[in-house]
Amino acid sequence: MAQTHFGYQTVDEREKERRVRGVFDSVARNYDLMNDLLSFGMHRAWKAYTVAVANVRPGDQVLDIAGGTGDLARAFASRVGPQGLVVHTDINEAMLSVGRDRLLDEGLVLPTLTCDAEKLPFADGSFDLVSVAFGLRNMTHKELALAEMARVLRPGGRLLVLEFSKIAAPLAKPYDWYSFKVMPWIGRLVAKDADSYRYLAESIRMHPDQDTLKQMMKAAGFGHVDVHNLSGGAVALHVGIRC
Ligand SMILES: C[S@@+](CC[C@H](N)C(=O)[O-])C[C@H]1O[C@@H](n2cnc3c(N)ncnc32)[C@H](O)[C@@H]1O
Repeated sequence: MAQTHFGYQTVDEREKERRVRGVFDSVARNYDLMNDLLSFGMHRAWKAYTVAVANVRPGDQVLDIAGGTGDLARAFASRVGPQGLVVHTDINEAMLSVGRDRLLDEGLVLPTLTCDAEKLPFADGSFDLVSVAFGLRNMTHKELALAEMARVLRPGGRLLVLEFSKIAAPLAKPYDWYSFKVMPWIGRLVAKDADSYRYLAESIRMHPDQDTLKQMMKAAGFGHVDVHNLSGGAVALHVGIRC
């Protein structure tokens, strides 16, 4: 079996999938709280920016991949209106069910589906917009997942990838200190799980930087790709147009 990365470790592909599942099974219950704590609430601004750039219209068909607890799906649902559709998906049942319960508590009933981004169960050209926030980093075959996202978009449709990226050099040292010392410490204190937050820090470093991801999206069938750096490049929004 082919080898891949799980954070800084080299493992076989099955083992990576098993461990990623373990991370999200473990963090699901505290996911929203930890997101707010670790990002000082900034993940809300990154997602609000993504929703503003997405500019979805009433009637749009939207697919949210790796949707987890449903932040983007919820924001898109209020914009597509009754004629539109937002499908909330994730590979992990624990994350998806926390998200589905949250949406139901807010009076939102969305189609919710467990599926792997690398094998999307949708016909070609089904969606106007596909989004994936902080999910691509965890996928084993990123090229395959991007090709699947391109396949399910209609020509001219857009893919929005919000993900951790390469931070500007002057911020790298304090960011490393925060990532490797503070994040696992808060993980242990609040969620009783330091390892998942160590994986988070390592997986961010192993993820393709802004330009590499842009090239990968072009290779997957996105003729035009724009990159928006956020918070000094700690996070980047890639917007690709399906040709
Ligand atoms: C950090 S969470 C992001 C959740 C949400 N999008 C957000 O921004 O808050 C990453 C999600 O990616 C999902 N994921 C990992 N690998 C996946 C795959 N191959 N297909 C679909 N989802 C995947 C995980 O289950 C997890 O819910």
